[in-house]
This record gives sequence, structure tokens and C-alpha cells, in this order.
Amino acid sequence: MKLNKILLPFVALLVACDSGDIYPEKKKIEEMNLRVNAVFEFNNETAFPQNYRIVWGAFVGTSPYPLAFEIVAKPDGKETTHYVSTSIPRIATFMALALVEKNENKARYFFKKFPLDNVSGEMNISETVDLAAFERVQAQVFTPQCILCHGGGGFAAGLDLTEGKAYNNLVGVPSHPDNSPKNRVTKGSLQNSFLLDVLVDRPPTVTTNHTTLSTLDAIDDINLIRTWIMAEN
Ligand code: HEC
Repeated sequence: MKLNKILLPFVALLVACDSGDIYPEKKKIEEMNLRVNAVFEFNNETAFPQNYRIVWGAFVGTSPYPLAFEIVAKPDGKETTHYVSTSIPRIATFMALALVEKNENKARYFFKKFPLDNVSGEMNISETVDLAAFERVQAQVFTPQCILCHGGGGFAAGLDLTEGKAYNNLVGVPSHPDNSPKNRVTKGSLQNSFLLDVLVDRPPTVTTNHTTLSTLDAIDDINLIRTWIMAEN
């Protein structure tokens, strides 16, 4: 297999000294004595985002913002993507491949996390990443964009899209009888998944227009749902 070698050390974060000096010195953040070699192969590539981004980065604790990161480029065909990371901030607690929001680097979903406790020297990672995992659909689309009306406050059309419930409310489940004879989701069939009709076509039976939900990304959210419906997971 051909390795697409990208040998980019992380850009070290620089902070200005807060001493009130007229010529504040730039101070380099302390780094770990660690070199991480990571090789990723991506499955279900049609769900690779255009507007959201995927980053490979170093994170701390529960913060969704990476301390240092590189943007992951869309892989071509079956090639693997190879990262060599040095200059990892000492305070980092894990490395992760994360889906980040469109306008800032806030992680919405972690594809893979790798703890950094008690590691030094060299760490080797080789993983296959499923771009269309249902957990990603939940974290990218349902939890932030749908549960206001389909969970918490109420369950419009009897549909619960909260974490842990969404899958069993969708897959193989008939739509509300007034809305459509189709299942909400029929795995392996875009034609027979009313979820897509609601989000893309604005069926007249559904009173709320979902195609203009302000947060919905017409490219990435819809591609992800399509790819997940067709994927074997
Ligand atoms: C502003 C409130 C609101 C939001 C946000 C919302 N929905 Fe809805 N949704 C509704 C209402 C109300 C209905 C029922 C309309 C009807 O039956 O006429 C509905 C119906 C549906 C249905 C049809 C279910 C069936 O069995 O007929 C699906 C599928 C659906 N929504 C998916 C979603 C998804 C996915 C999201 C997030 C991207 C979402 N909705 C966000 C209000 C909302």
C-alpha cells in the first residue's frame, strides 16, 4: 500500500510573556518527548466533509479545542494517510482524529482517541476510520440540530432523536402514518428512507419545513446521512 507521507511537525503555539515588558518575549510551550507515527485508512469516503473539517490533533482533558493540530486532507482512493507528529504540548492528554465545526476548531465528534498517559519516545498508530459511523451522525447532526423538537422538549411525529434512542427510532421503523408509507430509514435504500425526503425534498405531509433548518449543512449533513444509510453499520 502506498503511503502518502506528510512530515509536518505541529506548529508550536507561541504565547507572549505577560510580564508587562516593553519587549515581551515569545515563550515556547513545553513539549513532550514524543514522536507519534499515525497511519489512517478511511472507509466510506463519500462522507468526507467539505465544510466541516477533520483534524489530527493534541487535546487536553474535556476541552473540545485542539492545542495543536493539522487539517486532514481528503484521501484519494484507498491510500492511507500518514502523520508524524512531534512538538506535542506537554499538557496534552490525548491525540485524536476529530470532526471540527465549520467556523472554529471545536470538536463535534472524535473518530478515534489515543491517550497520552505514560507515553514517551515513539508511539505507533495504525487505524481504519469509518467516516459514516452512526455515532458520527448522532454527534454531527441529531444531537446539535434535531433534539430541540425530537427529544428533550417533545417528540415531534413521535420521533426521538436523542443519543441511545435515535437508531431504534429510525432504522426499520415506519414513519408516522399520516406522513408516509415508507420507513423512516431503510438501510441500503435511499428511496425508501423518509428521513431523506424530509431533509431534502420537503414532503407536503410534513408541516415543518426541514430543508431550511438554519443549522443543516446541505452538503455535509446530507452526504453523511446518505452514506450512513448505504453503509453496512
Ligand atoms: C423546529 C422543530 C424541528 C426541528 C429542529 C426538527 N424537526 Fe423534524 N419534525 C418536526 C415536526 C413538527 C415534525 C412533524 C411534522 C408533521 O407531522 O406534520 C417533524 C417530523 C420529522 C420527521 C418525520 C417523522 C415521521 O415519522 O413522519 C423526520 C424524519 C424528522 N422530523 C427528522 C428531523 C431531523 C433529522 C432533524 C434535525 C436535522 C429535525 N427533524 C429537526 C419539527 C422539527
